[in-house]
Amino acid sequence: MNLSNNTVLLTGGASGIGLALAQRLRQAGSEVIICGRRADKLREAQQQVPGLHIYETDLAEPIERAALTRRVVADFPALNVLINNAGIQNRFQVADLGPDLAAWETQRQEIAINFEAPIHLSALLLPHLRQQANATIINVSSGLAFAPMAAAPIYSATKAAVHSFTMSLRQQLADTGVQVLEIVPPGVNTDLGGPGLHTWAVPVDEFADSIVARLAAGEEEVGYGTSESIRLGSRADIDARFKQMNARRD
Ligand SMILES: NC(=O)c1ccc[n+]([C@@H]2O[C@H](COP(=O)([O-])OP(=O)(O)OC[C@H]3O[C@@H](n4cnc5c(N)ncnc54)[C@H](OP(=O)(O)O)[C@@H]3O)[C@@H](O)[C@H]2O)c1
Repeated sequence: MNLSNNTVLLTGGASGIGLALAQRLRQAGSEVIICGRRADKLREAQQQVPGLHIYETDLAEPIERAALTRRVVADFPALNVLINNAGIQNRFQVADLGPDLAAWETQRQEIAINFEAPIHLSALLLPHLRQQANATIINVSSGLAFAPMAAAPIYSATKAAVHSFTMSLRQQLADTGVQVLEIVPPGVNTDLGGPGLHTWAVPVDEFADSIVARLAAGEEEVGYGTSESIRLGSRADIDARFKQMNARRD
């Protein structure tokens, strides 16, 4: 993928992995539009990365996804890249959920943000992307797509679903000008799931430098460290990783 001269809609770009990607895409000479729910975070990101364009939106809501894509296409007709990066991570025990509909709504949001939004945004933008000379959709999954973390059961399942969807979409679009790529992060030190939960993990700049270099070199699916080995692993590797990871965390 050529990283320069693109016009990129990067969801959840105000923090963590998204912000690190936004910085690198700007440095490479692309226009970058980010979105998220927190206006203060979006403004902070804009101060940190001059030239970023920001849109406040909640991607859990289908109507907001539709409004966002309409506005972005109207404001940036050259839009040619969608990066589905926004995500949340809930940790809970399924047996504790009970009949409380508010508790279920919290879990349903995780499915809507992590899984529904990438599909819906892709569908909303494909008619536009297909008219561009070079277009790319990049989905951000996780090493947990391949070996789940039991403490985050819906999260892990949404990421497995994103990985599966990405493969299908790549196949469906094989004869078009739209490339479909996947970033498979390992644990990265961001505020995902809440501050402090990922301080043990890979520094975000180290991760982003490697990912961006490999995407620029033309790879379609890129991991780093443990997520690189598990995405390429055998069933025995996956079972061993599952056992090790869940013994450590449960
Ligand atoms: N960090 C890791 O260890 C790790 C590992 C594997 C995969 N990933 C994936 O990497 C991606 C980025 O996560 P991160 O680690 O960088 O965490 P992060 O810093 O929490 O970033 C997530 C971003 O998504 C945005 N977002 C969440 N819900 C949204 C919604 N409803 N509408 C619009 N934006 C929303 C957040 O902004 P607002 O809260 O302001 O909306 C935030 O900027 C996620 O897909 C995550 O699953 C992360």
